[in-house]
Amino acid sequence: MGNKKRLGIGFIGGGFISRFHMQSMIAVRNADVRGVFSRTTASAETAAAHARSLDVGEARAYASITDMIADPDIDALWICAPNYTRVPVMEEICAALTTGKGSLIGVACEKPLGRNASEARQVRDLAKKAGLLDGYLENQVFAPAIVRGREIIWKRGAALTGRPYMARAAEEHSGPHMPWFWDGELQGGGVLNDMLCHSVEVARFLLTEPGAPRDSLTPVSVNAFTDVLKWQRPEYAKRLADESAGKTDYLKRPAEDFARALVEYRDSDGQRLVVDATTSWNYVGAGLRLSMELLGPEYSMQVNTLDTDLKVFFSREVTGKQGEDLVEKQNAEAGLMPVIGSEEGAYGYEAENRHMVQSFLAGQRPAENFDDGVAVTELLMTAYMSAEQGRTVPFPPDNLGDFVPAVARGAWNPNER
Ligand SMILES: NC(=O)c1ccc[n+]([C@@H]2O[C@H](COP(=O)([O-])OP(=O)(O)OC[C@H]3O[C@@H](n4cnc5c(N)ncnc54)[C@H](O)[C@@H]3O)[C@@H](O)[C@H]2O)c1
Repeated sequence: MGNKKRLGIGFIGGGFISRFHMQSMIAVRNADVRGVFSRTTASAETAAAHARSLDVGEARAYASITDMIADPDIDALWICAPNYTRVPVMEEICAALTTGKGSLIGVACEKPLGRNASEARQVRDLAKKAGLLDGYLENQVFAPAIVRGREIIWKRGAALTGRPYMARAAEEHSGPHMPWFWDGELQGGGVLNDMLCHSVEVARFLLTEPGAPRDSLTPVSVNAFTDVLKWQRPEYAKRLADESAGKTDYLKRPAEDFARALVEYRDSDGQRLVVDATTSWNYVGAGLRLSMELLGPEYSMQVNTLDTDLKVFFSREVTGKQGEDLVEKQNAEAGLMPVIGSEEGAYGYEAENRHMVQSFLAGQRPAENFDDGVAVTELLMTAYMSAEQGRTVPFPPDNLGDFVPAVARGAWNPNER
């Protein structure tokens, strides 16, 4: 498949994040969205029609992943299905390729790479077995404010006064949009698994000197805390039950809606560094809030995605229907509201997909790849261990490969502590 000038992309999953990626493809050259496979034909067709309406490719729905791989128009797959499908999806891709049903250049996978370290390692190993280039879709390390801020801090502040020693990152919103995210077993955990994956990785990225490899920082220990602060209150537990036809029962089987982790690192000179990461599904503000800070001896940088340059105001007379047209995970439609001019740009999807497409066309492994996805999952699992045991856990812990968090086994309930 060498010397391709354009990349034909097939999406696995036709939901929320696939639509975000498709929107971002408007800003990506040399790629076309050519296909979608989803759980139902209807969702695949809706997503394919969305891609066509954006004019990012003549996308059509496929009946299976194998069918999509068999089509020579498809050169790479973007895995955007729910977390519980990662291993079977990757097994089908690997089987189709190793039995000669078709060929691909690469595969890009949304976070998390697996629900636990064992799954993430399987996904990475299957991609390797199939001979694929692999991209881990952690959009925040491509966010323009993060990339630019890191470049400036390292070039000026760190070069003259010493490397940064702490990075803080937080991702908070009022809770996921689909019932499967709330289910510890299907999702792999609660907010720690769902969103701390972003925060630990973007903070690690900020603390890493540009150009230096990932292993220039060594994780030493993880100290974490989790709790469920909002969604076990009876009125909110009822809301989750009502929105899932009774399936989600947070009184008996909750997942954490708040998580915090301190990851201690050493750099190659033995200097101590700290990542301070926080996430929650119980933040009620205008919408999704991503905040990041990088701190060093004589400087700091900060990003807060709700500090937007654009704000709109609607008086109480403006009573439209609810939507997410102002900002992701929007909680209100009136008053003074922040608006992000281009969310797919600001959150990093455009630069992320540009990098993945350019890497695949050049036959190069993306800078953010499945090794990073595995490393993130290993940190998250250590964080769950720490929260469960109520102590700081040295990294790497012995039983990382077998560990499944209590919340993913349905064996965690703070109400019973
Ligand atoms: N980078 C981010 O910030 C971000 C944001 C949201 C979601 N995500 C990740 O993206 C993935 C999808 O999340 P979402 O919000 O789009 O979920 P979603 O529920 O909105 O969409 C999932 C889609 O996958 C389809 N699907 C279900 N089972 C499938 C299977 N076996 N094979 C193929 N398709 C299947 C569903 O029909 C649906 O169209 C998750 O892993 C999630 O963690 C990442």
